[in-house]
Amino acid sequence: MIASVISSLALAGLAAARVQYLGVSIAGGDFGCTINGSCPLSSSQLPLGSGFGGDGEAQMQHFTKDNTMNIFRLPVSWQFLVNNTLGGPLNTANLASYDRLVQSCLSTGASCILDIHNYARWNGGIIGQSPSGPTDADFISLWTQLATKYAKSPNLLFELMNEPHDLSLAVWSTTLQKAITAIRTAGATQPILLPGTNFSSAAQLLPSGSGDALLKLTNPDGSTDNLLVALHKFLDEDNSGTHSECVTNNTIAFGEVATFLRNAGRKAIVTETGAAPGNPLCVVYFCEQNAFINSNPDVFLGLVSWGAGSFNTDYLLSQTPFWEGGRFVDHPLMAQCVVGTWIGSTAGGR
Ligand SMILES: *[C@@H]1O[C@H](CO)[C@@H](O)[C@H](O)[C@H]1NC(C)=O
Ligand SMILES: *[C@@H]1O[C@H](CO)[C@@H](O)[C@H](O)[C@H]1NC(C)=O
Ligand SMILES: *[C@@H]1O[C@H](CO)[C@@H](O)[C@H](O)[C@H]1NC(C)=O
Ligand SMILES: *[C@@H]1O[C@H](CO)[C@@H](O)[C@H](O)[C@H]1NC(C)=O
Repeated sequence: MIASVISSLALAGLAAARVQYLGVSIAGGDFGCTINGSCPLSSSQLPLGSGFGGDGEAQMQHFTKDNTMNIFRLPVSWQFLVNNTLGGPLNTANLASYDRLVQSCLSTGASCILDIHNYARWNGGIIGQSPSGPTDADFISLWTQLATKYAKSPNLLFELMNEPHDLSLAVWSTTLQKAITAIRTAGATQPILLPGTNFSSAAQLLPSGSGDALLKLTNPDGSTDNLLVALHKFLDEDNSGTHSECVTNNTIAFGEVATFLRNAGRKAIVTETGAAPGNPLCVVYFCEQNAFINSNPDVFLGLVSWGAGSFNTDYLLSQTPFWEGGRFVDHPLMAQCVVGTWIGSTAGGR
């Protein structure tokens, strides 16, 4: 009796040994953005098929039906949403385009991450840290409007900003706190994903002090409910995701972050990671990394790889599926290391 209770508990533990959310970025709305926060509207390619970019809507249907994915990240530039008017209202036509992507994501039954892909900047200026702007108020205006629009959509998550870098972490923390307060005040209770500096690198979360700074942020009621850390990490020598060589499986970095989060009773989502599909060592390291993330589901809530959407299938880190014989076929790297380590992980782990 006792033995059978223990063994069924053990089985339940094993079955849960994978992250709750698995998916991929459906990129394109961010195309043209550089790390100084310049995002020319002419380069934006929202993945809405003809007239825009890749067919992200069909890709999401494929990923949910054939790969049982349940989360997608939808990058977009700040400039696109307000049609280049800093601090201005959301542009009706551009918001409608972005919302079409959001709604097609939600219609698959998946959760969807809104991602403002601006590196904590607008056209070279750092939010709240540059004399000529953008100001905190400009950023709060953006998120207040988004939170108001989407307050009633339960399956959304808000990644406040993609990859802040080269800024004052102390000041950035105050900016993030204002954004959290504004979103909650607008009536939105969804998860908020908090990005640290150094491009939100998992390896820099602790050395940079971002981990401590992010965990201090709170909801207006003082709680930390639905406040999650956003983590990014690539496998190349400078963590840029621009090299075809991989140098690490990142398990030391993710292991240290896991311990940190576990001790604090907090969680993170890995919202960007990827590797070059053509490199055998990358396949080994990427599979090892993702298996490791899946084996720590108490602290890592999800894993979102990079990237599909408007990327061509030959982009260095492409996970855009091939269209062959009237159906989508995944990159082997995605099949093996993203989907495989997740589905396969039900049989093993902690
Ligand atoms: C965006 O602003 C430009 C310049 O003011 C204007 O020409 C264009 O029509 C606007 N686009 C939309 C979608 O409103
Ligand atoms: C941002 O970087 C891009 C690419 O390096 C460059 O063309 C652009 O002039 C820069 N913009 C600002 C405002 O610094
Ligand atoms: C992290 O960011 C800080 C501040 O911008 C910078 O000084 C440091 O060199 C960065 N570390 C790495 C590993 O890029
Ligand atoms: C990650 O790489 C290190 C060094 O090669 C290795 O010792 C470790 O077993 C790998 N981790 C996993 C989860 O495979």
